[in-house]
Amino acid sequence: MSDIEAKLADAIENPQNLGEMVDADAVGTVGSADCGDMLRMWIKFKEENGRKVIDRASFQSFGCQTAIAVASVATELLKGKTPDEAKNMSGEELAAPLGALPPVKIHCAQLVESALRNALGDAPATGKPSSTAPTLLEKMVPAQKLKVVFATGKPRESTG
Ligand code: FES
Repeated sequence: MSDIEAKLADAIENPQNLGEMVDADAVGTVGSADCGDMLRMWIKFKEENGRKVIDRASFQSFGCQTAIAVASVATELLKGKTPDEAKNMSGEELAAPLGALPPVKIHCAQLVESALRNALGDAPATGKPSSTAPTLLEKMVPAQKLKVVFATGKPRESTG
């Protein structure tokens, strides 16, 4: 097993910050138009030395183990970052503790990046909208109104 495979396996086996955060200040949800996987991220802020910083972050991933591994390390990295600092982190930076991801898995880290940006109110503004909603998305969108943003698409509202 290579170093990256071992780190991925460890993060998948022992994911940090997995699960819904009931007292979150922000939530972001994205679906990948490439593979249909979804990721949701919750963020809680706090004041530190007169600055607003991320106190903690948590996530749920539907369908992708690499996204779980990246979100696990990313939610640890985010602690103490200001919203602007967090928004400026690329998927590569968020996945850095795991090492360089294989090319086929780079979009998994971008899914985490997009969920983070969506939570921080910075939805992706470019890219093609997906022509059809993934079946998984229809299953995962809860009854209440929820803004869903495709990683390569435009914001859309669920009809609930
Ligand atoms: Fe699509 Fe990982 S395979 S997000």
